[in-house]
Amino acid sequence: MHSLLFVCLGNICRSPAAEAVLRHVLVQSGYSSLPKIDSAGTSSFHEGDLADHRMRAAAAARRIEITSRSRPVVDADFYNFDFLIAMDKSNYEALCSLSPEPSGIARIIPFARFLPEDYADREQGVPDPYYGGSKGFETVLDLLEFGCRRLALELLNESNTSLKL
Ligand code: 4NP
Repeated sequence: MHSLLFVCLGNICRSPAAEAVLRHVLVQSGYSSLPKIDSAGTSSFHEGDLADHRMRAAAAARRIEITSRSRPVVDADFYNFDFLIAMDKSNYEALCSLSPEPSGIARIIPFARFLPEDYADREQGVPDPYYGGSKGFETVLDLLEFGCRRLALELLNESNTSLKL
């Protein structure tokens, strides 16, 4: 199964939650041998921090545990992961400019691809909840649960996936 790195700006809200939600979905699907799944930020503002307490609390209420600590994206990530999944459009653009070589860009995927077709801000991707209220964290989790189920189906059916190397 392909290895995946979820990437947002701070690596304390959306990408650590995506990492935890995808693991949760795969375990619930009965998948015992999990692929390498990690998350990172395009910034190092919060390096070493646990995920935001609001994000952890909202996930815990859905029985999803977020345990990772923030770290920035490094060059090695472009070689050590099959795909880098950008949580929003600006994360996608930042990741493209961080890619150590142009060929790495092909393996950067917008999470927007897995969002509902009728979601109004689909092109922007998963909205940043950091400066908003609690509703924003619920919206992030709703979008992640939907998108990670789609992503899991693709991972479990790799011969027939749009995630191609
Ligand atoms: P994230 O959210 O990119 O989903 O982790 C943010 C966290 C922190 C900041 C911005 C977004 N910040 O500006 O510190």
